[in-house]
Amino acid sequence: MCGIVGYIGSRNATPILIEGLKRLEYRGYDSAGIAIINKKKSLKIFKEVGKIIELERSLPTPAETFGKTGIAHTRWATHGEPNLKNAHPHADENKKIAVVHNGIIENYKKLRKKLETKGYNFSSDTDSEVLAHLIEYFNRTEKNLTLAVQKALKLVEGTFGIAVINEENPNQIVAARKGSPLILGIGNNEFFIASDVAAIIIHTKKVIYLQDGEMVTVDKDKFELTTLENQAVKAKISEVDWQVSAIEKGNYDYFMLKEIFEQPISVENAFRGRLNEKLSTCRLGGLSMSGEELRKIKKIQIIACGTSWHAALIGEYLIENLARVSVEVEYASEYRYRNPIIPADTLVFVISQSGETADTLAALREAQARGAKVFGLTNTIGSTIARESDGGVYIHAGAEIGVASTKAFTSQVTVLTLLAVILGRMKDLSPTFGAGFIKELKQIPQKIQQILDNDEKIKQIAETIKDSTNALYLGRGINYPVALEGALKLKEISYIHAEGYPAAEMKHGPIALIDENMPVIAIALKDAIYDKIISNLNEVKARNGRIITIATEGDEKIKEISESVIYIPETIHSLHPLLSVIPLQMLAYHVANLRGLDVDQPRNLAKSVTVE
Ligand code: M6R
Repeated sequence: MCGIVGYIGSRNATPILIEGLKRLEYRGYDSAGIAIINKKKSLKIFKEVGKIIELERSLPTPAETFGKTGIAHTRWATHGEPNLKNAHPHADENKKIAVVHNGIIENYKKLRKKLETKGYNFSSDTDSEVLAHLIEYFNRTEKNLTLAVQKALKLVEGTFGIAVINEENPNQIVAARKGSPLILGIGNNEFFIASDVAAIIIHTKKVIYLQDGEMVTVDKDKFELTTLENQAVKAKISEVDWQVSAIEKGNYDYFMLKEIFEQPISVENAFRGRLNEKLSTCRLGGLSMSGEELRKIKKIQIIACGTSWHAALIGEYLIENLARVSVEVEYASEYRYRNPIIPADTLVFVISQSGETADTLAALREAQARGAKVFGLTNTIGSTIARESDGGVYIHAGAEIGVASTKAFTSQVTVLTLLAVILGRMKDLSPTFGAGFIKELKQIPQKIQQILDNDEKIKQIAETIKDSTNALYLGRGINYPVALEGALKLKEISYIHAEGYPAAEMKHGPIALIDENMPVIAIALKDAIYDKIISNLNEVKARNGRIITIATEGDEKIKEISESVIYIPETIHSLHPLLSVIPLQMLAYHVANLRGLDVDQPRNLAKSVTVE
């Protein structure tokens, strides 16, 4: 999705803005631009369609782009094609005020019409351009950018994170947010604006997360935080706990690969300090509910999108199985439009890696509006979902840059497993189960490592399916959502059409697709329904389907029906997803890489989907 960077200080803004935009590339974009106020106190705008590197190459000499105040943007098209005129920054007609905008101005057509009747000419098809003209309109009378921005935003319906500069006041940036994240970074006699900490973390770890309805006026040596109604706000400075190395690829070709290989550590971080060996249970401090309150819960709703939704499905299976509490999993994008029922004693969880997904945030607010207590499971400290939830748990996966979520998924599943055990131990689960679970969970990081060590073999299997046009992923029980996740990974980054199915459901339709060209990737682990899934796979075999199995180490029999087998170490049933998903992530990665695709920035996708 769109990204914003801004700089004001004593250094040259241009390289800082370009570097910041590169750090935001992972979010997905189709054009980019910067606006700076140069030495002659004149506003200059440079834009390019495509990658940041194209923008960088198109810039004139450093002397011409030198300026100490600037704003920059990566655009992910919503209104208007991804072309030069629609790229940000947008300016007023006199090219004095420049604006970058994330979000959507819902009433932009009405505003545009009004401005056009006043004689304003528009040069793009975007909703964002109205902001530049509106701000200029109010600035004519106010002669104060902060007040002009406030007046303009009063007329706006929709969501925004914006940064604005005006050549008439070259030492100032005004930024504001409603529904779209924005951060002020505080450096040494310099300030940064960003929609994501990744853009500025190499310069400063001291940040202020703007809340919805807040704005900041940043001058060279000071800043003032207010509401959009101009009420003073007390600044709360936070320290970002990421290391710069978290947002660098290191020796890996892609962030996704790095993040897949980080999973032994990220899973351990998700359970570290959360195991109570003495009482053979787990703890999640952020839940902030007493045992009595937790025991009273009759129902749990889990709301999420995409990969987080798949984690939620695993959570459903685990919580129902281990804690005997009924769970309902909801698509966040559907939730508020379908009049959901939240009975008394229901606990609502929203899961979001980014903590900024617009659909999930809207669902959180809807559940709260209906009187529910909502807990957030997020990876991003200070994110909107983390701040607006009534309590919550961080998954501590570290920065996830690859658009295709991998380590966040296993960390989400880890935390959901802990939750299931906590609730289960309050009910029927025995201390023996609790102790056995903890012992096995502690082995998981090392077992993930064992699967990662098999990378070469998985790459060879990827070679055999890389030219396929379709793929079917099968699993049963707790491994069915893993099959969904495997299929999502493949389609996201390799553009091969893939579907996940419960293995036994296949005969009710998808079996029609099976032929000698169709790879069927099946999770067939040694558990209570092993024989059942083998029967399902025999149905595939009988129709000449190509079967690739994810099987339990030592299962020799499975070779009889499989074209290839990827073995994973044995573990207890509840922990299967933490292992079975790893080879599916690796397979998707290698297929996409072998097809020569950009694994980290797949077409049309954005890392954090901040529009509805
Ligand atoms: O940040 P979130 O977990 O809320 O994101 C939800 C989805 O947009 C996300 O999981 C998406 O499906 C990923 N691209 C999956 O790899």
